[in-house]
Amino acid sequence: MCGIVGYTGDEQAAPILLDGLEKLEYRGYDSAGIAVFDGEKIHMAKAAGRLKVLSELTHDGKELPGFIGIGHTRWATHGAPSDTNAHPHCNKDQSIVVVHNGIIENYLKLRKKLESKGYEFRSETDTEVLAHLLDYYYTGDPVSTIIKVMHRVEGSYALGILFEKHPGEMYAVRKDSPLIVGKAQNGNLIASDVPAVLKYTREVCFIENEEIVKLTGNEMHFYNVDEEEITKEFQTIAWDVSAAEKGGYEHFMLKEMYEQPKAVSDTLSPRIKGNRIVIEELGMSDEEIRSIRKIYIIACGSAFHSGMTNKYVFEGLARIPVEVDLASEFRYRDPIFEPDTLVIIVSQSGETADSLAALREAKAHGVPVLGIVNVVGSSIAREADHVMYTWAGPEIAVATTKAYSTQLIAQYLLALKFAQVRGTVTDEELEEMIQDLKELPDQIEMLLNNKEKIQHFANRYIAARDVFFIGRGIDYAISMEGSLKLKEISYIHSEAYAAGELKHGTISLIEDGTLVAAVLTQESLYKKMISNIEEVRTRGAFVLAVTNVGNHEVEKTADYVIYIPKTNRYFTNSLAIIPLQLFGYYVAIGKGCDVDKPRNLAKSVTVE
Ligand code: F6R
Repeated sequence: MCGIVGYTGDEQAAPILLDGLEKLEYRGYDSAGIAVFDGEKIHMAKAAGRLKVLSELTHDGKELPGFIGIGHTRWATHGAPSDTNAHPHCNKDQSIVVVHNGIIENYLKLRKKLESKGYEFRSETDTEVLAHLLDYYYTGDPVSTIIKVMHRVEGSYALGILFEKHPGEMYAVRKDSPLIVGKAQNGNLIASDVPAVLKYTREVCFIENEEIVKLTGNEMHFYNVDEEEITKEFQTIAWDVSAAEKGGYEHFMLKEMYEQPKAVSDTLSPRIKGNRIVIEELGMSDEEIRSIRKIYIIACGSAFHSGMTNKYVFEGLARIPVEVDLASEFRYRDPIFEPDTLVIIVSQSGETADSLAALREAKAHGVPVLGIVNVVGSSIAREADHVMYTWAGPEIAVATTKAYSTQLIAQYLLALKFAQVRGTVTDEELEEMIQDLKELPDQIEMLLNNKEKIQHFANRYIAARDVFFIGRGIDYAISMEGSLKLKEISYIHSEAYAAGELKHGTISLIEDGTLVAAVLTQESLYKKMISNIEEVRTRGAFVLAVTNVGNHEVEKTADYVIYIPKTNRYFTNSLAIIPLQLFGYYVAIGKGCDVDKPRNLAKSVTVE
């Protein structure tokens, strides 16, 4: 939530800042601003609305000359989206400016204190207290000033700071919000995430909590909270610039859907060695795996849905009881941790505040935590005891597609690995399942290439008011994800229900023409699902069915049928999700929605 960027070097800063902010817009897009220091004065420009409003206002940055600057794209938490509440924020004479990603929890108390000392506030944001605190505690040395402020504030922050009294220097610091430093040929950068710097460099350094950064055009210094200089390692990011560009697709979401075969294959291939699953980076001994008595899968949103699917997979294959929890609930519900429990945190960004808090809660109870994470070096990846990466590459569209698909795959692999070690599947079963896994990328590609049928169907439903998704078992889990995809980008009200639960209340919502998407990929539940489809059709529903190729009898009951290729019953969600993603996408496009940046949302939810 919110993205920050900063540059100092030989180039004009403003165009680099705007370019970086464009790559970070997925983190928030209700207002944006930049501050550039021309050597004498710091100038600011900020505007409510999308980044293009700011670009127009500054004539693509030309209005703000200077070689050093900071920028921000906002997802409002404190104070409505407006020009005044947009970042950067500054002290009275604009000699200290700051951009902030995070939340200052004790800002009201600090604001009162500062007001009593004569400080006047212009905005309703929590961030503005930081600018005034930096002024109030200013020692003449930026690093010691920043440390004094750090001691006073509670909450999370990644900050970019300029001091007019220190020309050519940019400062940054983080606590519980992500921050990276990039070393480019013509200068140095800070950013909330890698895509913002990829155009200029692939050499990046991940800043840890409570580390302070001082950058000039050609120097970098890092300090700890005791003001001691520390050394930091840089790493080379494997992605190239095109990974964060649309590459000819109309939307990032469409591009990312089409990247699913590769993402799935990249996540699978390194972990399949002959007829065995080998997860080298896992770092769990066979003894540890055999001792697990219970698994919690904890996550938010789509990542939670991937866990819902994999509850069935872990329980079915590895015979370990699994509880799937929403991270925002788990962290406050005083969970019971029994011995030999494993906590699995699933997260694309690796920065989701609730998931990170759940991880810390588990660790505080001495429970081992395995992170299934997409962003290398993210907080969850660093804090978990064990990490398994989902090699989806950067995901820019707010609605997840390829990262979700790789989350499914990583968990199938893990469940199979556990099953292999615990002896709950035979070698023949394992071999067959590995063969099925290997076929998934081509099968996903085939479904994507046959998008016309679902596209055509979606066009008929752009005016829908309510859509229900139903399924049983694993198909209920995929219904949840299908429903979320539709509602988050098209703004059509949609709910997912366990099909057997409908007649306990929800069926009263079905009226003439209500669209019901029924997923029936589980042969053992097929007949039950047909009965549930009958029940809603009798009440006037129009039924879209997603089922396995060969299940032709469903055509007698459903109005429109999409077939997915045959695979193992545990892996069907990897295929069933494709038409559901396409459906959500084409309905949203038909309605003229901004699919990559749906209203009120941001990709990386770093506030609770
Ligand atoms: C929906 C979506 C979100 C995320 C959720 C968790 O399309 O993307 O529901 O899945 O915010 O985010 P991560 O995986 O980054 O922890």
